[in-house]
Amino acid sequence: MRISEKLSRSGNLDKKELVELLSSFDGKDLEIISEEAIERRKRFYGDRIFLRGLLEISNYCKNDCYYCGIRRSSTCVKRYRLDKEKIVSEALRAPSLGLGTVVLQGGEDPWYDDETLSWIIREIKGRAPEIAITLSLGERSKESYEKLFESGADRYLLRQESITRKHYRMLHPESQKIEDRVRCLMTLKEIGYQVGAGFMVGSPFQSDEDIANDILFIKHFGPHMVGIGPFIHAEGTPFEKMADGSLEKTLLILGVVRIMNPAVLLPATTALSALSPEGRDEGLKMGANVIMPNITPRKERKEYNLYEGKPDVKLEDEEHIKALVRHLEKLGYKVDGGRGDSLVG
Ligand code: 5AD
Repeated sequence: MRISEKLSRSGNLDKKELVELLSSFDGKDLEIISEEAIERRKRFYGDRIFLRGLLEISNYCKNDCYYCGIRRSSTCVKRYRLDKEKIVSEALRAPSLGLGTVVLQGGEDPWYDDETLSWIIREIKGRAPEIAITLSLGERSKESYEKLFESGADRYLLRQESITRKHYRMLHPESQKIEDRVRCLMTLKEIGYQVGAGFMVGSPFQSDEDIANDILFIKHFGPHMVGIGPFIHAEGTPFEKMADGSLEKTLLILGVVRIMNPAVLLPATTALSALSPEGRDEGLKMGANVIMPNITPRKERKEYNLYEGKPDVKLEDEEHIKALVRHLEKLGYKVDGGRGDSLVG
């Protein structure tokens, strides 16, 4: 029996099987996995796809991750930060755009202290209580995470990037530690956030064993959301000449993650569309059920480049989202404009 068939039947694989699948999969495996991933997604979420409005609030970052286009040492970046009133007014566009969640994402920018972020969150929630707020602002203290949760933040995205210590160290400077990352993830969960973990596929020096470790970490940690996209080289980084991750492998892994964690929310990430125009739709066929349209103001959006080739949408947000909804409906999905909470218990 193929390993992909075993995965489909049992919903689980051990490390050795994962490594074997990752190193030898073919088109038939992708078909088998796609079918089961869709089946399992259906069991929890039906045909619904959830949209999140992504607001990129700042491209300042105190970290120096080797892969990331907005790393501190990059001189190629025109830095910006949105002030708090601007963040609130942009976030409040979400309901009329048909988006039930806003994701406030940025580099690790200490300018946004707890007081500032709490004010922003309270203001958004006070004026549009129906919006779910997701934060994607990196590592912060337990006290900070607590304050932001009390202020009304619902969810937090923080990818582990690589659970394998040796590999994590090859992607980050010495001062950044996988232990800190994992501690943050556990703290966020304890506090009561819906938590998103995840990793890049095809990041430099990543082995199939590393990927297997990350897949197993996700299974063990039990996040509510999982962000997985291909690594894409970024100008001004030590990895700028490195090869991009593979679309097929990213798709395979999305399917495996859906089958092993059927109740998670799984975005078809922007990086997937950056790699191929069909990337996002292919992601949905592998069990993804979230899309995150960008709602950052134009001027700043073009400066928020984690990697090369971020899709440049010409349409206004409203038109873009309308076209996206029409496209998804044509593919047979139902677009859910609600909060889209995770069904992971
Ligand atoms: N390619 C793909 N994804 C990247 N990220 C950062 N840099 C890159 C890159 N060069 C991802 C990281 C981070 C998320 C916000 O974006 O995994 O967690």
